[in-house]
Amino acid sequence: MNFANELETWLDRVRTRTVAFIAIVIAVCVTAVSCSGGGADTSQASAGIAPELVADYIHTVLAADRTAYTKHVVNRAQTLEGKAKDNGVLTVEATEGWQQTDGIPLPAQMFRLGSEIANESGYFTYNLISPWYINDNHAPKGDFEQTAMDETIATGEPYKGYQEVAGQQYFSALYPDKAVAEACVTCHNTHPIHLERYPDKLFEMDEVMGGIIINIPLAGA
Ligand code: HEC
Repeated sequence: MNFANELETWLDRVRTRTVAFIAIVIAVCVTAVSCSGGGADTSQASAGIAPELVADYIHTVLAADRTAYTKHVVNRAQTLEGKAKDNGVLTVEATEGWQQTDGIPLPAQMFRLGSEIANESGYFTYNLISPWYINDNHAPKGDFEQTAMDETIATGEPYKGYQEVAGQQYFSALYPDKAVAEACVTCHNTHPIHLERYPDKLFEMDEVMGGIIINIPLAGA
């Protein structure tokens, strides 16, 4: 009797342990499957990531780099277009004619220099554009850019959509470039090319002065 009881208890223990063991094995398998499944899903998601999101990512990096250059490089220069800067600590001038002088590029020029290199990669293109452009390369081109620029100026919001250029489909997004500092307004309003081309256009603080256009080519359907 005692022996039978002991056997019963022992068998119970074995059963419990086996069940627990099987449960653990199942749990590990499920985790492995869901993890590898998750991995596959992620790679599919990144292959099919929404172009809108890609454009937002690219824009975030571009805007951050431009702000960082303005804040941490240009702001440290002692001179900006011939005018002394209060907080400047470096004996260098940030000037449009940086190549002719010993200066450093303005933020918009730095942005363009970067875009010229990146645009050669063939992955996507980006550019600063404005209806009141100083640099001719910044004129809005084609119907999409014209419409996008008008809408962005009217709403202050990004404009996104699809366009076809030379048989290639693109997802394009235009992000407003606003006069966030007094320097944006003064420099543009007093620039000789601006005065000559747009004598009646006086930028004001917070106004949309142009935009950053990003074009992402889409794989053929
Ligand atoms: C010290 C002068 C100066 C300051 C300050 C300045 N810009 Fe510019 N900006 C320029 C010049 C010069 C260009 C043309 C650059 C080039 O040759 O690519 C330009 C280009 C641009 C363009 C592209 C259209 C065009 O005119 O060619 C936009 C949009 C723009 N700036 C917006 C801004 C905003 C917004 C700010 C403030 C955050 C700002 N700028 C500050 C001088 C300035």
